[in-house]
Amino acid sequence: MTETISTDRRAERRETAERRQHSRDLFVEFRNVEKAYGIKNVLRDANLKVFRGEVLVILGGSGSGKSVTLRHMLGLEAPDAGRVLVEDEDITDLPEEELYRVRKKFGMLFQSGALFDSMTVFENVAFPLREHTEMSEEEIEQSVNEKLELVNLPNTGHLMPVDLSGGMRKRVGLARSIVLNPQVILYDEPTTGLDPITSQKINELIIDLQSKLNVTSVVVTHDIQSAFSVGDRIAFLNKGVFEWVGTMDEARDSDHPVLRDFLKASAVTAAQPTRD
Ligand SMILES: Nc1ncnc2c1ncn2[C@@H]1O[C@H](COP(=O)(O)OP(=O)(O)O)[C@@H](O)[C@H]1O
Ligand SMILES: [Mg+2]
Repeated sequence: MTETISTDRRAERRETAERRQHSRDLFVEFRNVEKAYGIKNVLRDANLKVFRGEVLVILGGSGSGKSVTLRHMLGLEAPDAGRVLVEDEDITDLPEEELYRVRKKFGMLFQSGALFDSMTVFENVAFPLREHTEMSEEEIEQSVNEKLELVNLPNTGHLMPVDLSGGMRKRVGLARSIVLNPQVILYDEPTTGLDPITSQKINELIIDLQSKLNVTSVVVTHDIQSAFSVGDRIAFLNKGVFEWVGTMDEARDSDHPVLRDFLKASAVTAAQPTRD
């Protein structure tokens, strides 16, 4: 009896999630993408959809091709076969000049943070504005301060990167990646190397920015706690394909053997029982 009810509820949730997805636009789509480096096949017939307004988590082990996936979204790499679409535009064969226009839609938080150590926090965040816009000094100041406030680092513009903790560096990197007002934010391992409390603060910031900036987010991680804190959906990358894609609740209930092993390894299935 209980079993029937829980199955019904699960089905109901799944339907709601599917309805929501169908009513949304696709922002990024991978169609049968293949990419090899030498003899190593990294992506093998990878299919993926990122919907506008969602937080999609790409989960996968180290070396599974997560960063390579992000580079394909930006057109920094072209697939050997298959297509990459951004807002219905096929970007697979676009020339470099055209790709600049596409890349403006994205803000990327690199794994390393990659701040310029010789520049102040203010100049680090201002850098893309000076490179890509004709904004006046006042406009730049307003924009940089607004972004520093969004990442909860007001009045830190005068600091040097060396004065910052790991979590603060990530936040400055994040302020810089959103300073050109992207529609999509790509996060490459945003919590890797941070302690648990700092990681949780970064997770909260990802959710906060999602609602305040009304963006789409793709979060690449092997940190399952982080995945479950921020994600609407998971795409599990294994052996070059997105082997399993679904909502967080579905991931907890999934009987996919490799995904289950991956989740069990960090005790998500045990620590966060389903609500059925
Ligand atoms: N430019 C490159 N040249 C050669 N091999 C690469 C290159 N970029 C990535 N790879 C290989 O592709 C695999 C996936 O890399 P990556 O996407 O960085 O993994 P991760 O999931 O840890 O982000 C790795 O084995 C890596 O060594
Ligand atoms: Mg990586």
